[in-house]
Amino acid sequence: MIKKLRKAVLPVAGLGTRFLPATKATAKEMLPVVDKPLIQYAVEEARAAGIEQFCMVTGRGKTALVEHFDVAYELEATLRERDKQDALASLRGAQSEPGSITTVRQQVPLGLGHAIWCARAFVGDDPFAILLPDDLVLADRPCLAQLADAYYETGGNVVAVTEVPREQTNRYGILKVGKDDGRLVEVTGLIEKPAPKDAPSNLSIIGRYILMPEVIKYLALMERGAGNEVQLTDGMARLIGEQRFHGVRYEGRRFDCGDKIGFLEAQIAFALKRPELVVAVRGFLNNYV
Ligand code: UTP
Repeated sequence: MIKKLRKAVLPVAGLGTRFLPATKATAKEMLPVVDKPLIQYAVEEARAAGIEQFCMVTGRGKTALVEHFDVAYELEATLRERDKQDALASLRGAQSEPGSITTVRQQVPLGLGHAIWCARAFVGDDPFAILLPDDLVLADRPCLAQLADAYYETGGNVVAVTEVPREQTNRYGILKVGKDDGRLVEVTGLIEKPAPKDAPSNLSIIGRYILMPEVIKYLALMERGAGNEVQLTDGMARLIGEQRFHGVRYEGRRFDCGDKIGFLEAQIAFALKRPELVVAVRGFLNNYV
């Protein structure tokens, strides 16, 4: 029997060095794309895939991420008093069900694999999703919902994948590929940040995963991989052969918002999707190109 997917882990304990000085006192995941912080896009995408329980893996200086989903009594009372209905409505997506968000501290950022291991008590014996909020996906059907479809079809581990230029394989987790039907790709191996000459393909994992709980026991080995970090990719690679493991070529466009260019491009792409902004944005873009 395939267990229902209800849980998501949101690792947000990274240092965000590529975005300094903006991330000196603010979490990278609080940076807004148009008018919504990255963390809220991730939570809304997860909810659309049926996720009910969230665990944020946090570190120092990340309290705003949790507060963002709290009730803001004074703000809401003031907005009500002033009859600011639009502003009140805009707060709704930032409201979480009481008790649905829990946090754990990573304390030292030893790598993404270590961050996921920190959520081990939350994961328990259940399948769980992972969303890296700095990977933003613009899609008609939310990316995690596409992954959830594949999870319910295969009953195993699934990760979102996309083709990257061969010369960039050393930035990503790369797949070794078995059977490939164009959408679902059988994963026969995983390598974190291989040099282009060693990369078994140019299919890269993006920040969306649905994993079986057994990955935790491999992460617990605390083996250091690329960059001397505990890599999630290495833990996942251990599952191959033991469990089903597929990549999903999702439909949509992904923006790496942990990177300045990706973040700027996301602003434009998301603004152009907003009916109230599209004309103005097109207008000013014409002045620059
Ligand atoms: P990144 O590779 O983007 O690292 O992490 P980073 O520290 O956030 O940013 P840079 O590279 O220094 O600019 C990918 C995801 O994994 C989380 C990050 O918060 C981000 O969501 N992460 C990474 C942790 O939670 N803990 C870690 O030890 C490392």
